[in-house]
Amino acid sequence: MCISFSPTYKNLIEYFDSPDPIGSTTVYKSKPSVSYSMVKQMAKVFVNGYGNIGRRLASALSRDNEISLLGIAKYTIDEQILKDLKNKFDIYVPENLALKYKSSIAGSIEEAVSASDLVLDAAKEGEGYSNKIRFYQPLRKPAIFQGGEERHGDRAVAKMIHNSRVNYDEASGKQYVIQGSCNVSGMGKVMQPLMESFGDEIQRYDVTLVRRWADLEDSKEVTDSIQWDKNPHHQEDVKDFIPYANLYVEAFKVPSRMMHLHQMIVRFRSKAPTRDRILDLFNKEFAVAILNSAKGTADVRMKAIELGFEHGDTNMVHIHQDVLRVQEETLKIVYSDDQTGLVIPENHLLLQSMILRRPRSEAVKRTDKLFRISDKKRLLEREFA
Ligand SMILES: NC(=O)c1ccc[n+]([C@@H]2O[C@H](COP(=O)([O-])OP(=O)(O)OC[C@H]3O[C@@H](n4cnc5c(N)ncnc54)[C@H](OP(=O)(O)O)[C@@H]3O)[C@@H](O)[C@H]2O)c1
Repeated sequence: MCISFSPTYKNLIEYFDSPDPIGSTTVYKSKPSVSYSMVKQMAKVFVNGYGNIGRRLASALSRDNEISLLGIAKYTIDEQILKDLKNKFDIYVPENLALKYKSSIAGSIEEAVSASDLVLDAAKEGEGYSNKIRFYQPLRKPAIFQGGEERHGDRAVAKMIHNSRVNYDEASGKQYVIQGSCNVSGMGKVMQPLMESFGDEIQRYDVTLVRRWADLEDSKEVTDSIQWDKNPHHQEDVKDFIPYANLYVEAFKVPSRMMHLHQMIVRFRSKAPTRDRILDLFNKEFAVAILNSAKGTADVRMKAIELGFEHGDTNMVHIHQDVLRVQEETLKIVYSDDQTGLVIPENHLLLQSMILRRPRSEAVKRTDKLFRISDKKRLLEREFA
């Protein structure tokens, strides 16, 4: 089953009536109309890959008036795709297709990379490495890779995995960085505040990732099975940016398209903090909502669609207060993780660190305005009070 939806902003606009200083929330365009002096300062960004992640990156960046979105790459192309995309973005294709479609495209991928200040690589898992070797390295272009790429071994694309809550500043000026995957980003968002507040009082973290099988937009079938993962990469990925955590991760894939659900069991050396203290801690966190009455991941996803959130994304993790438990030395946290939406503001933050070298507090403000995360958080918390 593939559920299709076309989000509108009607409901969202009813809730948020303040003008957005960053850009309109409804218009997709690759070249915002701006003065020459602004153009001079705008960072030129190319989105290489237009799947579930690439299309979200492109629509977000097209609303950011300090970014000049050069366009997007399409590897599979036909007249219908060109027609659908033509008024949204400039399209770049591999060299071997450029001649055939020359009247409808802006150029080749190599030309786009060459003209950009930064590439957001959103290739299907594993292709980022070939892109790096073929385009980014020879043309000396910085690039952000996605969580499906390798951090170690022969096909490693970067020496760093970014999590905006943990190591934003370290990405400043770097040439290549991987944005952690959705599961890895979610774990970092929950673990880091706990580490900062309780540090050595915590003995270990045991996390069970219940992973969705496919995304809502995917055409691939969802298999009726619960599949285990012999060696979940998520554990090592999180340790890349939180190296001292005593962390153990198990991952199971379940037949769902909605969201991931994580259960994190945190063992303290002595009595665990109270529920109220934990909730207070997360209440202050950016892109972490605290919900009380959702019954499952589909409730949260369908609410986001009903409320007209762009792409049906909440762009955050949601701690489910009704199943948060404290028992003697043990804290159990259950949170849902918006698989497609969470990493998009993370990429936006990362690019601000890499090429704009902006302090984190300012970057968070801009990202919050662009994605309306704090507004969405308040709204979801009200809906699931
Ligand atoms: N989906 C998620 O929830 C999610 C969440 C976090 C991170 N990620 C990571 O984000 C990355 C992309 O995932 P996705 O879900 O967006 O995949 P996807 O929907 O399968 O899309 C991948 C896209 O890559 C394009 N492509 C093919 N060859 C390419 C190349 N050499 N260079 C660039 N693009 C190429 C394809 O374009 P055509 O359609 O034109 O053939 C396709 O649309 C992966 O590393 C994944 O692990 C995914």
